[in-house]
Amino acid sequence: MNTVPDRDAALRARLARVLPPAEIALAAPLIERIQALKAERDAAVVAHNYQVPLVSAGVADFTGDSLAMAEFALASPARTIVVCGVRFMAETVKLLCPDKCVLLPSSEAGCSLADSISAASVRGIRECLPGVPAVAYVNTSAAVKAEVDVCCTSANALRIVRALGVPRVIMLPDQHLAGYVARETGVDVIAWGGQCEVHTRFRPAEIRSYRESSGATVLAHPECPEEVQAEADFVGSTGAMAAYLRERRPPRAMLLTECAMADNIAMECPQITFLRPCNLCRHMKATTLERVAAALQTLTGAIEIDPALAERARAPLARMLELA
Ligand code: 13P
Ligand code: SF4
Repeated sequence: MNTVPDRDAALRARLARVLPPAEIALAAPLIERIQALKAERDAAVVAHNYQVPLVSAGVADFTGDSLAMAEFALASPARTIVVCGVRFMAETVKLLCPDKCVLLPSSEAGCSLADSISAASVRGIRECLPGVPAVAYVNTSAAVKAEVDVCCTSANALRIVRALGVPRVIMLPDQHLAGYVARETGVDVIAWGGQCEVHTRFRPAEIRSYRESSGATVLAHPECPEEVQAEADFVGSTGAMAAYLRERRPPRAMLLTECAMADNIAMECPQITFLRPCNLCRHMKATTLERVAAALQTLTGAIEIDPALAERARAPLARMLELA
């Protein structure tokens, strides 16, 4: 049986691989408090791979990519789900689990991709392209999802577009994910011009020079620009990057994505040395242990979606789960 002291010792050992002892000691009482609140509230905490180790390892019951987070929440028996991620992730969980109380600890946790397109723009595109199926990345608002045929995440985008079996699709809002899908599937993809403010900052010449001097294996998220993806040994979702590293354990790696991703893998795979050209997502960093504790204590930050809108937005998510 895993007693609390055993759990504490195992957690401290994991965190010690990426954090100084003083930081772990300072956070320990808050981590204990959150664990107690989770039991009181019948709550599960689900975290994205970009959450800092104190959140992902310290209090989350599950950490993964945006698809795996939603699947975990769907299968969880907990009545309350705390989403340590950004708003579109919490909305996705609420759409799939309408009877659960879904809490987003930080109201500032948005996303530049979700903000780049409105429902009216989607209607406008579709009017110009009648009969062309529209695929929305989950990094969109519920109002945008309500206007499309199917959703996708970066983990299943290729499978979804191939499963549609059509020569042409509209894909929004990320132009770089859309380009990746077009190159990999050969489908004619009509893209929206959105970009992720984090992944768009990588520069190919810089990556090439780090790689040549270090021999590191380079992994890139498909939200990176095409020229950056071209410098990588592997392109995939955050979950796919983690799986690649767990399986192959290269001695040195560079993750062209958010900085916390490398810390989370380093806790599990201490033999991999990570080179750190990485960028921070200010939205992901808005979630802190203090905010998780406050959300559980007061049940604030609950996601509410108008029921008529929710019904329309749920349909493309359900189709995604059917097709993938
Ligand atoms: P994943 O679905 O790959 O976890 O990506 C979500 C995201 O927001 C990346 O910036
Ligand atoms: Fe949005 Fe980019 Fe942050 Fe992901 S990393 S949540 S796409 S802003």
